[in-house]
Amino acid sequence: MRPSPHRHTPATIDLSAIRYNLITIRDHLKAKGKNPEFWPAVKANAYGHGAVEVSKAIEELVEGYCVSNLDEAIELRDAGIEKEILVLSGIVPNNVDYALDLNLSLTAPSLEWLKLILATDKPVQGLKLHLKVDTGMGRIGVRTAEEANQMVELMDSHGIDFTGVFTHFATADEEAQENFNKQASRFVEIVASLPRRPKYVHSTNSAAALWHDGQVQDIERLGAGLYGINPSNGALELPYELKAAFSLKSEIYHCKEITAGDSVGYGATYKAEENTFIGTIPIGYADGWTRDMQGFKVLVDGKFCEIVGRVSMDQMTVKLDKAYPIGTVVTLIGGDGDKKITADDIAQWRHTINYEVLTLLSDRIYRKYLGK
Ligand SMILES: Cc1ncc(COP(=O)(O)O)c(C=O)c1O
Repeated sequence: MRPSPHRHTPATIDLSAIRYNLITIRDHLKAKGKNPEFWPAVKANAYGHGAVEVSKAIEELVEGYCVSNLDEAIELRDAGIEKEILVLSGIVPNNVDYALDLNLSLTAPSLEWLKLILATDKPVQGLKLHLKVDTGMGRIGVRTAEEANQMVELMDSHGIDFTGVFTHFATADEEAQENFNKQASRFVEIVASLPRRPKYVHSTNSAAALWHDGQVQDIERLGAGLYGINPSNGALELPYELKAAFSLKSEIYHCKEITAGDSVGYGATYKAEENTFIGTIPIGYADGWTRDMQGFKVLVDGKFCEIVGRVSMDQMTVKLDKAYPIGTVVTLIGGDGDKKITADDIAQWRHTINYEVLTLLSDRIYRKYLGK
């Protein structure tokens, strides 16, 4: 879909905040004697921040990138990104030739998958694979040392480059340590069982880097922290400050006074109890500004204003304290005066997580960049 730069609902992404977060986390790890390569997670359009722009902005600071699927990797290569790229999900076996053509590292999630790769009869000499170990996340990866070893044997016998081994933590963002420790020990056991240590052993996402830095090994797969959002959604306090890189503004493009008893929006769910000023804002659920935002707030002129009536596909209505002219700025995510609305606030309202709030914001929202 084409973004809508002519509509007054731009997101602004502060690339200098993204660089600040990366450098801050890197420096804190360095102070703890950890010097991993950084392969940030720029999947899902860099968590809604723009995969190409973010990847380019941090190119000098990182050794590689993590993406979710082949198409996300292709997007980066098409944009001229030459650093390492690890595709985190298992790809469709028949697409394996892309990996060699584009110099991608693939995740090897199971013996069955590896055999399917070999059965394609496509060249695999030099193919870079990171063996995924499921230590407790339960999505993809081998669960036994036996399967892991059979895979390494098969890679070796076909000239595949066993480049890495990794796992992913399910509870690095929680206070309780038991699950995390169990996963960490299981990972140590399986890695120790392998015939050799590959170049990269890695397990840490943002939460692990922030609250379990002892676990950081050869690669830091930094996601949320890069964008300045708290991966625990506020359950744990950040050990040091990070800067939110994403803000979202719009404008009032219609303002009127309705009289007591008038209703607003589909289903007439809001009925004015008194004469009320209503502003209409060009954003709706097709932008990822979901219907459950009804009752939440925006900032106008440094004041919180309630979203009233149902959120429509392309627009929504807010209750104002007075009449405002067309073009008055409305802050949806970010600060206005001494007040702010964060992705965490929205996540809490929606009973979800800040990751979901940002990644759901659709391509229709035009992204502007600061600090290029
Ligand atoms: C395998 C893997 N590594 C790293 C990340 C980055 O996680 P975070 O954004 O919590 O840092 C993700 C994100 O989902 C992931 O799936």
